[in-house]
Amino acid sequence: VARAPPLDPAEGTAEDEAQGRILYTGSQLWKTVIDKKAQIQVLAQLRDEHDISMWGGNATSMDVLVKPDSVDKVKERLTKNGIRYEVVIEDLQKAIDEENPSEIELDDRQGHRMTWQAYHRYADIQGYLDYLATTYPDLCSVQTIGYSIQNKPIKLLKISNGNPGNKAVWIDGGIHAREWISPATVTFIINQFVSNFESEPASVQNIDWYIAPVLNPDGYEYSHTRDRLWRKNLGRSGQCPGTDLNRNFGYRWGGRGSSKNPCTETYGGTGPFSEPETAAVKNFIQGNSGANWKAYVSFHSYGQYVLYPWGYDRVVPPDYKDLESVGRKIASAIRSVGGPSYTVGPAANTLYPASGGSDDWAKGVAKFKYAYTIELRDNGRYGFVLPAAYIQPTGKEALAAVRVIAEAAAAA
Ligand code: ARG
Ligand code: ZN
Repeated sequence: VARAPPLDPAEGTAEDEAQGRILYTGSQLWKTVIDKKAQIQVLAQLRDEHDISMWGGNATSMDVLVKPDSVDKVKERLTKNGIRYEVVIEDLQKAIDEENPSEIELDDRQGHRMTWQAYHRYADIQGYLDYLATTYPDLCSVQTIGYSIQNKPIKLLKISNGNPGNKAVWIDGGIHAREWISPATVTFIINQFVSNFESEPASVQNIDWYIAPVLNPDGYEYSHTRDRLWRKNLGRSGQCPGTDLNRNFGYRWGGRGSSKNPCTETYGGTGPFSEPETAAVKNFIQGNSGANWKAYVSFHSYGQYVLYPWGYDRVVPPDYKDLESVGRKIASAIRSVGGPSYTVGPAANTLYPASGGSDDWAKGVAKFKYAYTIELRDNGRYGFVLPAAYIQPTGKEALAAVRVIAEAAAAA
């Protein structure tokens, strides 16, 4: 066993704090129970007063992060309004510190540093893609499809057996910086496809896979070094940096569920594709019109959902029955490999309206037959701070999902 150098040279050192790493000591994750619509307004007000932030939830429950100094105030406000709650994480910083093994023993492999026992930095993920292209030149190639605001290359791996009749499937991860399980899962899928290609079903082998595991490299790195909960890219330095890349795609841009205020988490940018990270996706897909595009999948977390268009509003496309039926096959494939239950449905109806998402653009403009946003684990026990031990189980269920998508793409 070779001992790997630390994943992050600055990890856990005083240097981190000197660089201004945000600590979440004393912040608590609460699961609240919503049984009246008006209760959501109570939470929205607490958010606007900067006491909580909303992590996720559904019609009957909402996960909220409570600031240390606001615990008493929030407790009082919830009680007064009949909102029951349960403390799920007592100290978020402690959960963050325990999430990722800082140094791990790598098996005796050479050429790359990737594992699925820890969340890795962007350099490790890039190095892994380059390694695959060098090691399996007949099957894989790497391309840089664009550069982030801070000039990091956005890399894409193509996996293809070269058959001329192949349909094309797009997979991305890491649109949102803090959803670390997404790049980990996408690279897990890559690893399985490439290293066991011959044992994959014919439907997988006869697809041209275009896979970009980290679409938001600046945000991803920032979530490792400065702020574990960073979501956006790092566009526009200054008072309130960052655009929500999943509000920046050019279909019904700027509508419901996206914000014009740069200081919010869902700021949609100055215009459709104003950000280089989303423009890279658009340019690559539209520049490869020779590919027979059939399916588009974005991996996010958390909540365990299989979502399809539309996300911009509570309406569905004419062929929604096809998306629903493949969505259900995805959820049942996940169950049959021992995974948890995933909720299937149109994004706005099932979660909330949010305009400018990649899935809506894929369906509405690029005309992919199948477009999905898959929200991976968990259900709010750890939320974004999912311990690394869950990478492999989550990867296995996502692999089952993607195999279903390969079949649907082949038949489309
Ligand atoms: N949690 C995702 C987000 O907020 C959901 C996106 C679903 N798709 C959509 N077009 N709204 O970005
Ligand atoms: Zn997301």
